[in-house]
Amino acid sequence: MQNAALAALALNWCYLACEVHPDDLGAAIAGAKAMKFIGLNLTVPHKLLAVPMCDALDETAKMFGAVNTIRFEGKISSGEWIPLGNIHGDEISEIRSHGFNTDAEAIVQSIQEDLRIQIRGAKVLVLGAGGAGRVAALKFAQEGVKKLFLVNRTESKAEQLTLEIQRLFPHVEVKAGYPNADIDLVVNATSLGLKPEDASPLDENLFPLGRTRAVYDMIYRPAETPLLKRAKTVGCHVSNGLGMLLYQGARALAIWTGKPAPVELMREALQKNIYG
Ligand code: ATR
Repeated sequence: MQNAALAALALNWCYLACEVHPDDLGAAIAGAKAMKFIGLNLTVPHKLLAVPMCDALDETAKMFGAVNTIRFEGKISSGEWIPLGNIHGDEISEIRSHGFNTDAEAIVQSIQEDLRIQIRGAKVLVLGAGGAGRVAALKFAQEGVKKLFLVNRTESKAEQLTLEIQRLFPHVEVKAGYPNADIDLVVNATSLGLKPEDASPLDENLFPLGRTRAVYDMIYRPAETPLLKRAKTVGCHVSNGLGMLLYQGARALAIWTGKPAPVELMREALQKNIYG
């Protein structure tokens, strides 16, 4: 999707995937900076590790404690930091890495578009308190969710996240555990559903799917996880995580280029690449 967008924007850039061992992350970022890369995307398990490695952090990276996008910036003679993608012919005295998080906004945007649900004022159950679950729960709290329920296999992680949200967003009603009344949305942020033999991330003895209006699964491959299939049979609105993948990428592209991303073209390229 990034290369399709770069071609549409007539940028002579190229987006490449590189596999980096976590022990080499610092060296990889330093190498990209030395080679004057425009920027980077990072995925599991690098998003948390990259936070202390960036020279500057955007508010989004600070808030969510995770970096999925780095923009390299050059210091020009006026002392200003300019994205490398926008520097043409200026003398650069120094380069810095600037870390951002585009995942959080992407979750909310995808839920809004794909399920027509406004997080503000909604009652939401988040399954999973790992990297993705944590970003989602914090973002929902920041958006003004009405009630937030957090469930995780390792219960202590859900409890810890509950305390963190209570401290940061005292107005939000947040609880570790399943809801005992009807809610608007269940979000799967665990890795359960990636493999066909996976158990359901939701214990229907404790919370039947019929008690939620909608289900969002961050997994996008397979396109329909057993959780989504089951949710559909009980009449829930459902969406997989493709929109989240799209919007985090579109935001990253806008950060690197300073231009709006051609979202529909990126969506098409993504769908073609992932589902054929
Ligand atoms: P990500 O960054 O994609 O969120 P992660 O931080 O490793 O990756 O989180 C994976 C999530 O899936 C966690 O909530 C994890 O639960 P634990 O915190 O208990 O590990 C959840 N998960 C992974 N495998 C699971 C399984 N077999 N059963 C239940 N939950 C599982």
